[in-house]
Amino acid sequence: MPLSTRTMAVQPNHLTKSYVLPLFILFITSGISTTHAACSKMDQLSLFSSFDIASSSLNWSSNDCCRWEGITCDMAGRVTHLLLPSKRLKGVISPSLGNLTHLTHLNLSHNILSGHLEAGFFLSLGRLQILDLSYNLLSGELPLSPPPSCIRIVDLSSNQFNGTTPSSFLQRAWNLSNLNVSNNLLEGQIPSFNCSYSPVVRSLDFSHNDFSGIIPLGLGNCSKLELFRAGFNSLMGTLPSDIHKARALEEVSLPSNKLSGAIDESIANLTNLAILDLNSNQLSGALPLHIGKLSRLKLIILHFNNLESFLPPSLMNCSSLTELNLGFNQLEGDLSVLNFSKLSQLIKLDLIDNHFTGPLPISVYSCKSLIALRLSFNDLEGQLQHEILSLKSLSFLSLTHNRLTNVTGAMKILKDCKSLRVLIFGNNFLGEEIPDGDLMVDSSGFQNISIISFSGCQLTGKVPVWLSKLEKLKVLNLSLNRLTGPIPGWLGTLPSLSNIYLDNNFISGEFPKELCRLQALRSEKGATQTGHDDLELPIYPSVNRSAAILQVKYLSNMVIAISLRNNSLSGNIPRDIGQLQLLQLLDISFNKFSGNIPHQISNLRNLELLDLSRNHLSGEIPASLSSLNFLSNFSVAYNNLQGQIPLGTQLQGFDATAFEGNPGLCGSPLPNECQKKSPGDSDTTKDQEDVHDSGNGIPWLQISVSLGFIVGFWGVCGPLALSRSWRYAYFKFFSNIVDRFVR
Ligand SMILES: *[C@@H]1O[C@H](CO)[C@@H](O)[C@H](O)[C@H]1NC(C)=O
Ligand SMILES: *[C@@H]1O[C@H](CO)[C@@H](O)[C@H](O)[C@H]1NC(C)=O
Ligand SMILES: *[C@@H]1O[C@H](CO)[C@@H](O)[C@H](O)[C@H]1NC(C)=O
Ligand SMILES: *[C@@H]1O[C@H](CO)[C@@H](O)[C@H](O)[C@H]1NC(C)=O
Ligand SMILES: *[C@@H]1O[C@H](CO)[C@@H](O)[C@H](O)[C@H]1NC(C)=O
Ligand SMILES: *[C@@H]1O[C@H](CO)[C@@H](O)[C@H](O)[C@H]1NC(C)=O
Ligand SMILES: *[C@@H]1O[C@H](CO)[C@@H](O)[C@H](O)[C@H]1NC(C)=O
Repeated sequence: MPLSTRTMAVQPNHLTKSYVLPLFILFITSGISTTHAACSKMDQLSLFSSFDIASSSLNWSSNDCCRWEGITCDMAGRVTHLLLPSKRLKGVISPSLGNLTHLTHLNLSHNILSGHLEAGFFLSLGRLQILDLSYNLLSGELPLSPPPSCIRIVDLSSNQFNGTTPSSFLQRAWNLSNLNVSNNLLEGQIPSFNCSYSPVVRSLDFSHNDFSGIIPLGLGNCSKLELFRAGFNSLMGTLPSDIHKARALEEVSLPSNKLSGAIDESIANLTNLAILDLNSNQLSGALPLHIGKLSRLKLIILHFNNLESFLPPSLMNCSSLTELNLGFNQLEGDLSVLNFSKLSQLIKLDLIDNHFTGPLPISVYSCKSLIALRLSFNDLEGQLQHEILSLKSLSFLSLTHNRLTNVTGAMKILKDCKSLRVLIFGNNFLGEEIPDGDLMVDSSGFQNISIISFSGCQLTGKVPVWLSKLEKLKVLNLSLNRLTGPIPGWLGTLPSLSNIYLDNNFISGEFPKELCRLQALRSEKGATQTGHDDLELPIYPSVNRSAAILQVKYLSNMVIAISLRNNSLSGNIPRDIGQLQLLQLLDISFNKFSGNIPHQISNLRNLELLDLSRNHLSGEIPASLSSLNFLSNFSVAYNNLQGQIPLGTQLQGFDATAFEGNPGLCGSPLPNECQKKSPGDSDTTKDQEDVHDSGNGIPWLQISVSLGFIVGFWGVCGPLALSRSWRYAYFKFFSNIVDRFVR
């Protein structure tokens, strides 16, 4: 996550160098103790002028610098090791560091050093073997002078170095084994790497920069190379054609680039390979036929590419696999002809959004370690088999958008799946009846379930009673079905429930008062702890790749919401609704609610979206609504509201469309002034088209264009850091779109 790190890196305060002159004079005059291998005077001076010691946590007050913290000297009293990681060192690295000509080990990682390195930084450090400047705020170009030939480890990662890396930079580095420049702002080509110069290279990490162009040839000579990472750059072209010669490779990670072409068959020669991560590129063609030769492969991460054709049967010989992610490709074929049974270590299997056919592959159920299984957005058919119960650890199951049938059978089986936490089943079982009745004769079924989604299944029936036993249920999505009957009051007793999507059904009756008692919506403390927060697989909003940045990785990142939009609910909005303090989204539009807007809604201080449009609400808009500081999306359009829109409040900041269709309403931002009192003038009969997203249009373009910068940010900063418009898009997505597409 490059951005997260960068974002978190605080800009340095104004940094100045302090040379601690008084102390320095003290040393000169007091003479240096000679009872130990005397510290070289010159080195001692250089040390003092190298950094701003005063602001650090260092105590360098004794006479002999060889005894100072972090310093090691050789017999002659020359400093060889300067190891000062995490010492809160500030300011620039002064050129006087170069006077420590006997230095072999320099570790200044995890400090707050800034400024750039001198062009000749390495010139006098001719003995340097280990250099670690990672996790600082260093900027500017890399030093022009290359590191000395004895250098073994260079770690400049997690800084702000920019510019190109001169290809000469590594050409004298005979003994280089580890190079890490990841998480900087470097650009241009990856320095061409010729292992006839650096024969012992083991680890190269160029990831999270702005490198472009192709990956230069030469890696093939690196007979010791174990790890090659260059993900999150703009690299193009094919995988380097000589990479298969680097037989020691254990990890090849090049995600999020623009690599194209096929994964060459020769990759099957890399028999030590454990990690192959090429996700989010433009790779095409079929998977290598002999990939099964890679018996040590643990991770195959190839989602978001254009891979096509059938899965090679030999893939099922990769018996060390723990994670196989081939989602978002154009792979095809009958999954049930593959034999998954050798993949006994497999923990995560994700084949989302491909063209796989056939029944659910029964041999998958012999992958006893499976925790997460997602086969959504394929063309699988048939019924869920009983054998799934042999997956004792299965926690995440998503089968959305297939052609499965027999929802009652599926639920009867899955209720005994003890570990199941996430069950996403949408867009299957078309037109069946939602299972109810004797589904849960005993109360031990689904005891760990946190997310249930059956959206878009056109299910008939009522909100089923067995849900009332699910103490850990947090997200309930039954949107886009044909459910009838009322919203059951017992929903309000579910201790963890915080996301209710019942929109787009035929539900009638009133807004149950009991819903206003939902613990998880009333206070943070009220919510029962439901175990771990992270999702085993991220939930993606849509098939659109640019929307993948909106992936949700944590349960707690889901918007706290009640969406009842587009049903036949009537009666008043209960005043007790004001108790649902944590609610962020309330959408009851397209119903038949009547009466006033209770002013208690203004207690919902976390509300960001409030949609009351297309109801029969009357009376005035309570002025207190303007105290909803987070509110960024609001509509009361097409009701029977009257009077003046509260003046001088943020309500005036919303578009007139948020208020239109209320003949008795007047004042800014509506065009009609209140004095005129000309009800009936405003254009209520316009067209009956929805003024909002009708739920059919997907406002994704808008989201993906303006939000490209969020990549990687989400996990760290969470929803609060997100801009309002972004949040809105996110809400919309969850309330209207994901309902259909959550996978
Ligand atoms: C610094 O170290 C010296 C001895 O090396 C000690 O006498 C002195 O108290 C220390 N100062 C602090 C602030 O810890
Ligand atoms: C530098 O010090 C840190 C903290 O002790 C350590 O984790 C890191 O491995 C060191 N760097 C090198 C190259 O040894
Ligand atoms: C490289 O390492 C070897 C073995 O550690 C050592 O003998 C040799 O002197 C080093 N070469 C350079 C140029 O430092
Ligand atoms: C390179 O450094 C980054 C942190 O700056 C670290 O996350 C990454 O694991 C390192 N790469 C290797 C290969 O150690
Ligand atoms: C899988 O491995 C077995 C045993 O090593 C071998 O006989 C078989 O041919 C391999 N299957 C494929 C499709 O490569
Ligand atoms: C649905 O599944 C259940 C349980 O597997 C089974 O008993 C039942 O016969 C199935 N119904 C149909 C119509 O196939
Ligand atoms: C409301 O639901 C009905 C039936 O499910 C659907 O046809 C209609 O388009 C929906 N209206 C809106 C505004 O979403």
